[in-house]
Amino acid sequence: MSCMSRQKIILGITGGIAAYKTPELIRRLKDRGADVQVVLTRSAREFVTETTLQAVSGLPVRTNLWDKEAEAAMGHIELARWADLVLIAPATAEIMARLASGAAPDLLTTLCLATGAPIAIAPAMNHVMWSNPAVQENRQKLADRGFRILGPADGDQACGESGPGRMLEPDDIVKAVTAPIAVAEVGPAPLAGKNVMITAGPTIEPIDPVRFISNRSSGKMGYALAASARDAGASVILISGPANIPLPDGVDSISVESAREMFAAVHANIDDVDIFVGAAAVGDYHAADVKPEKIKKSHENLSITLVKNPDILSSVARLKDGPFTVGFAAETENLHEHAFGKLENKNLDMIVANLVGKGRGFDKDDNAVEVFWHEGERAFPLMNKKTLAGELVTLIAERYQVSLQTDTKTELPSIAVRD
Ligand SMILES: Cc1cc2nc3c(=O)[nH]c(=O)nc-3n(C[C@H](O)[C@H](O)[C@H](O)COP(=O)(O)O)c2cc1C
Repeated sequence: MSCMSRQKIILGITGGIAAYKTPELIRRLKDRGADVQVVLTRSAREFVTETTLQAVSGLPVRTNLWDKEAEAAMGHIELARWADLVLIAPATAEIMARLASGAAPDLLTTLCLATGAPIAIAPAMNHVMWSNPAVQENRQKLADRGFRILGPADGDQACGESGPGRMLEPDDIVKAVTAPIAVAEVGPAPLAGKNVMITAGPTIEPIDPVRFISNRSSGKMGYALAASARDAGASVILISGPANIPLPDGVDSISVESAREMFAAVHANIDDVDIFVGAAAVGDYHAADVKPEKIKKSHENLSITLVKNPDILSSVARLKDGPFTVGFAAETENLHEHAFGKLENKNLDMIVANLVGKGRGFDKDDNAVEVFWHEGERAFPLMNKKTLAGELVTLIAERYQVSLQTDTKTELPSIAVRD
């Protein structure tokens, strides 16, 4: 049985040029065993015909809130209850505005207000429209309310220009909406009985009693991973640097400040850990000489000597009979090359890599990542970090199971534990 059997999807199609890809999207969702009920906006009917969509979906297409015949068969409230998921692809700037404001002038927006099902949208528009502050504000509002925002992708556009605003390809949309269901398919608790340790947040390295060196990590990704690993049945230890977000319920936590404190906390608790996920943004250096008093502004120039911190990830990955080890790489360029380098050099089992800077990655609610392991890789499009965490935990659980059967790691000399 496919992993999407019995899933009931309302596919809302709105008036963007990318609507021409929706027959293909429907076909792929149906290939995965989903029932797809299409709802078209008035503008969408300019781009794709009801006849095509009905033929591909196998169900009469709904277009109008005031269709007496359709309402008599399955009223809009019944339809809203019927759905396991509402997927809007393509999602125009206009539908995002209607959804963000809570307006319900048509069938699709009324369904979105009336449904208890998760709602995912795949925005598609010209890149200038996408970067318009009004659209970005609406995107943020929707993400904050728990809508899953799938994409958009960056690339050539129908208008002849290039930039972020392309609808994700049907395959990527299908992958993004089917992964959480895959968790249910492998059983309610794929990590039951497993001990998972996750590091999260930034570290801070003092310079004097009032100043420190740190980074922009918010801890959101690591905390979301801890919650997802807990939901997957694991006993979770979360070792966190200073993060300004609530700790997830049901996980054991240890708070630390510096990289060396994090290193010590990790190694003091690593013995029975099956899976280690290093999501913290650990400082690479600390000040050689932490001044006992506040440094005065008396010199024109001031140099601070920095000393390398121990590498937590490598030290765990090199432990004899150590855990399955997953690292994170935040890069500003050459993602693929740097991520593969770290996977090999640090002797990791998997690495989750993302581009940061220019508004991406740190301190955002959404993230897009690429995951690499020795035999493969998988890309996850831009989505809410909580959703992404669920998908990453599913993949980590899968790869961990594979690693139990085939140990692909080479043993490297261990790293001395420094204080
Ligand atoms: C040829 C054409 C292409 C369009 N493509 C897009 C698009 O890709 N994205 C978008 O947000 N709006 C696009 N629009 C504008 C929308 O169709 C318009 O805002 C409409 O009101 C959307 O309504 P709906 O969201 O109810 O479908 C396009 C309009 C035309 C005429």
